Amino acid sequence: MTFLSIPWAFLLVIVLSAHHLHIAVANEGQPQRPGADDSSANQAPFAVPASTAKLTAYGGPMHLSAVSARYTTLSLARFPGHRVRIKKTSFCDPTVNAYTGYLDVDEGAKHMFFYFFESRSDPDKGTAPSTLDALPLTLRHSLFIRRTFLSCQDDMMMWINGGPGCSSSMGLLMELGPCNIDMKNASSNGTIWNSYSWNEAANIFFLDQPVGVGFSYAQFGETVETTEDAAANVHAFISIFFETFKQFSGRPLHLSGESYGGRYLPVFASEIYDQNAVAVREGRPTINLQSVIIGNGITDISTLYEGRYAIECGRAALDMPFQSIKACVRMKTALPRCQKMMQRGCIEHFDALECSAAVAFCDNELSTGMALSGRNRYDISKPCLGDGLCYLENGAIKALLDRPETRKLLGVESPSNFSACSPVVGSAFALHMDKWAHPTQHYVASLLERGIRVLIYAGTYDWQCNWVANKLWVDKLTWSGQAEYAKAEWKTWSIQDKAAGSSLNHNAISKAGNVRHTPDGLLTFATIVGAGHMVPHDKPQEALVMIKRWLARELL
Ligand SMILES: *[C@@H]1O[C@H](CO)[C@@H](O)[C@H](O)[C@H]1NC(C)=O
Ligand SMILES: *[C@@H]1O[C@H](CO)[C@@H](O)[C@H](O)[C@H]1NC(C)=O
Ligand SMILES: *[C@@H]1O[C@H](CO)[C@@H](O)[C@H](O)[C@H]1NC(C)=O
Repeated sequence: MTFLSIPWAFLLVIVLSAHHLHIAVANEGQPQRPGADDSSANQAPFAVPASTAKLTAYGGPMHLSAVSARYTTLSLARFPGHRVRIKKTSFCDPTVNAYTGYLDVDEGAKHMFFYFFESRSDPDKGTAPSTLDALPLTLRHSLFIRRTFLSCQDDMMMWINGGPGCSSSMGLLMELGPCNIDMKNASSNGTIWNSYSWNEAANIFFLDQPVGVGFSYAQFGETVETTEDAAANVHAFISIFFETFKQFSGRPLHLSGESYGGRYLPVFASEIYDQNAVAVREGRPTINLQSVIIGNGITDISTLYEGRYAIECGRAALDMPFQSIKACVRMKTALPRCQKMMQRGCIEHFDALECSAAVAFCDNELSTGMALSGRNRYDISKPCLGDGLCYLENGAIKALLDRPETRKLLGVESPSNFSACSPVVGSAFALHMDKWAHPTQHYVASLLERGIRVLIYAGTYDWQCNWVANKLWVDKLTWSGQAEYAKAEWKTWSIQDKAAGSSLNHNAISKAGNVRHTPDGLLTFATIVGAGHMVPHDKPQEALVMIKRWLARELL
């Protein structure tokens, strides 16, 4: 893969109350029609795929459990170009309610696929949302109030993989999802239940975005080629979902992701935050955005190559550098020049030609050695297997998701077969220099200033978006808590390791990694020792413990 190709995750929770809700009503056998009071949505005919011609009739806010195995269509008046279609599925996790569907964008020209799995712990005890509506807005968002009066306990998360162009099915099926791909032919359904899934603690969405990724597709070849464009669709999706299914009202939302998620998530979270301000002005419900969680991300590009040198030629990952001295000297020599060129062409002022030249130089001088080493760039402790993504799981996931039975189970309508990462989307983003042109760290700083918690975590064996590069940018991030963060000590964080515990020693404590955080944990940086780019793939126990503590607002 020529572009940064890794899945990432993304969690979102939204809290909304009930006003301004419009649900499209359709009768059996008739095409979808917007609600009668929704004149703005009535103008353009909405292109609806044939299979949705039969819709569950519905007219009003609904409980998610009312959604059947046939598509139900949802809409909101203020997103006239957007529709959400959702159906129940028996895919992946028989212990919870699972759903799949599409966000139809631009009058049905684009379709973004998602999975939604309820939490295994406490998805929703079904308390009447009216209890919540009776409370003043400020109280509605209080955790104590929600737990006491509503019993709607588990947070909402959205996981989005990276790339750009990679499908969140990868995160689902080889990392944190309720089931993982069966690599041993041990099950009849192609998947194995994952006891370390993050839906142990949260309701979780997996979204294939932008259009062109995974099962998401465009009707007429339209594309979304920048993160800023993608953000508007993500916001519409979340708004429609949460304003329709009121049982999720008031719940904290977390956006989580990996890799290019380091670029996507701060932008998506900022869009949600800014749109909340608009909602307040207009007297509409807001989304209870709580945190952003980024695993092995790419956020501030200025430290990337320095980090790669440290992984390859230093002892930041392994006890001994694995790269040849000759290659390391070449890298070390090129590094200052690479940084100077990037500073000048990409950072101080962005010039597409200059920046491209800088990136080409840096990649040539600083990434060639890694490519020749035969190691897995996402986990330097392993060889690169299978295709360019280096994991055998990729082929198996594609085989499973291309089966006609699987597509049927999921309600897939994309005309193409599944691909883990779309080279078309990847190169479109590359053409816009999406990664290099924007100082994404400023979004992170802005979110922190507004009290949105940020967790940056990184497996130490990753080279691609390595932990050193992440540590360096987090250290130099300019915000009002910078000095406090700098003063904080590095600590070890640990888990009670069930696998390591023998019958004699039930709860062996094992070190998971190192952590530094502001005293209140608002900004937390954590490493996971011995994990690669896809932390939940390599260290599922550690990853789940980390997420559970983060959601519970405990320090790591
Ligand atoms: C698929 O099969 C595995 C192993 O037999 C089982 O654990 C899992 O629950 C099954 N998944 C579904 C969705 O039925
Ligand atoms: C998987 O197992 C089934 C029977 O359980 C067998 O028919 C099939 O050939 C096996 N597939 C592979 C790839 O080993
Ligand atoms: C999808 O994959 C199946 C099975 O490999 C193949 O028969 C079919 O032609 C493919 N469809 C497209 C649109 O590529």
